[in-house]
Amino acid sequence: MRKLTRRNVLTALGATGIAGALPAQSGLAAPAPKIRLEARPGTARLAPDEYKPTPVWGYEGGVPGPTIRVRQGERIDRVFLNNLPQESTIHWHGIRIDNAMDGVPGLTQAAVPPGKTFDYGFTPPDAGTYWYHPHNRTWEQLARGLYGALIVEETSAPDVDRDEVLMIDDWRLTETAQIAEDFGAMHDWSHGGRIGNWITVNGDGYWTSDARQNDRLRLRLVNASNARIYNLSLKGLSGWVVALDGQPLSMPVPAEKLLLAPAQRADLIVDVTANSGMEASLLSHERGGSYAVAVFRVGQAMAERRADRPAPLPANPLTEIGPLAETRPVDLIMEGGAMGRMRGAMMNGKDTDIRTLISRGKAWAFNGQADMTDKPLLSVRAGQTVRIRMNNRSRWPHGMHLHGHHFRQMLLEEQMGPLRDTLLMQPGEISEIAFVADNPGDWLLHCHMVEHAAAGMMTWLKVT
Ligand code: C2O
Ligand code: CU
Repeated sequence: MRKLTRRNVLTALGATGIAGALPAQSGLAAPAPKIRLEARPGTARLAPDEYKPTPVWGYEGGVPGPTIRVRQGERIDRVFLNNLPQESTIHWHGIRIDNAMDGVPGLTQAAVPPGKTFDYGFTPPDAGTYWYHPHNRTWEQLARGLYGALIVEETSAPDVDRDEVLMIDDWRLTETAQIAEDFGAMHDWSHGGRIGNWITVNGDGYWTSDARQNDRLRLRLVNASNARIYNLSLKGLSGWVVALDGQPLSMPVPAEKLLLAPAQRADLIVDVTANSGMEASLLSHERGGSYAVAVFRVGQAMAERRADRPAPLPANPLTEIGPLAETRPVDLIMEGGAMGRMRGAMMNGKDTDIRTLISRGKAWAFNGQADMTDKPLLSVRAGQTVRIRMNNRSRWPHGMHLHGHHFRQMLLEEQMGPLRDTLLMQPGEISEIAFVADNPGDWLLHCHMVEHAAAGMMTWLKVT
C-alpha cells in the first residue's frame, strides 16, 4: 500500500510546493478535504454545432465555472490553483468580505503565479446572488471565460418552483469561433470597452430550458461581460425584481425594462404566463433589434397562476446609513475616453499629456490621476459614513463598483436608491453614493467596464 506522506498528499492535490496549504494534522480526526478551484484552459460549446468547441480559460476548465451555493452563515473554503499561463487571483464580487480575501493583486494579496495556489476562506454575511472572477488582467481573463456564480441562500427562501442562475456574457469570436485575441486594443479601451459579437447564457449561445405554464421562477441574472450593458425585458413571463446586486429590495418592483451593467445582478421572481406549447423568454434589446438570450419551452400547467406580489426577501445584516448632514461628500471626477476633453493626467507621479498616456495604455482618469498611487481617494475610520459624488465628465457610460461594501445612491428630496455594489452612470451624469464604511481594509472603487479600469478608472479607499 502507498504510504500517505505529506509529499504524496500534496501531489494528490495537484499542487506543488504549497507548504502550509494543508492544516496541521492533529489527533485522529481527519481534516475536511479542501475543495479545489482550478483556473485552467479548457473548451466550451459557445457557438452552434457546426463550429468546433472554443478554447477558453475557465474555472475547472468550464464556462461558467462551478456554481458555489451555500446557506447564509455557511463558510466557503476553496484552494485556488492557478493553471493559467499567467498570474491570477479570485475576487468574490459583492461579498462583504475580509479584506485579505478580496483578491486584488498588489492591494490585498500578491498575484498567484502559474502552478501556485492561494487559500480563500470566508463566510459571506449576506444572502443573495454574487459571482467570482479574476482581478488580474481582468480584461483578458474575464473575456476568456473565467467567471462563476456564488449563491448564498436565504435561511427562509422564497417559495418558487425553480431557482435558475443566468450568467449573461458576450464574446468576441472569430469566424472559426476562436476568441479574438485583441485584448489590449486601445480602440476598445478608449471607447466602450471590449464589446463582443456572440452572446451566451451559462456558456450557451441558445440557452433553452423547459418550464410549465404558471410556474413561478426565480431568475438570478448576472452580467459577466467585460463591458456590454444589457437592456432586457421579459416575454411570456411576468413578475418582480426582488433584489439588485445581491441585496433585497425593501419592496419588490414590477420587472419590465431592466438595464444590467457589467457585474450587476438582478433577482427576479416571475410567473410563466405564456401558454403551453409557446415560448417564454428573456429578451435583449439593441439598436439592431431584439432577440431572446434565454428561452423557456412552456408545457402544461400543473397549478393556477399565483400572480401575487412576492414578499420582500429578508434583509441582510448591513449597517444602515446614518444622518448625512455631518459628512461632506468627496468628489470623484471621471474623465477621458474618446471624444472627451481630457488633455492629460498624472501618471507615475508626472503630469503626462494625453498622447503619452495613450501610448502607455491609459485613456481615463479619476481626479486627474491615470494610475493607482499609494494615496487613497479617502481614508476613514471604520463606522464612518462616506459620501462620494461621482461626476462622469466623459461621453461614455460607466458601471462604478465598490469593493467590500454596498452603497445607496442619493436621490432627490433625501430619497435613497436601493443597495447596490455597482452603479451604472450615463455620460454627463453626476451621482452621489453613501454608505457606512464598516469593513476595515483597502477597497477598490473602479469602473467595471474592465478595459476602462485598466486604462485609468480605478482608485481605492482606506478604512481603518
Ligand atoms: Cu467584479 Cu473589482 O470587481
Ligand atoms: Cu467605464
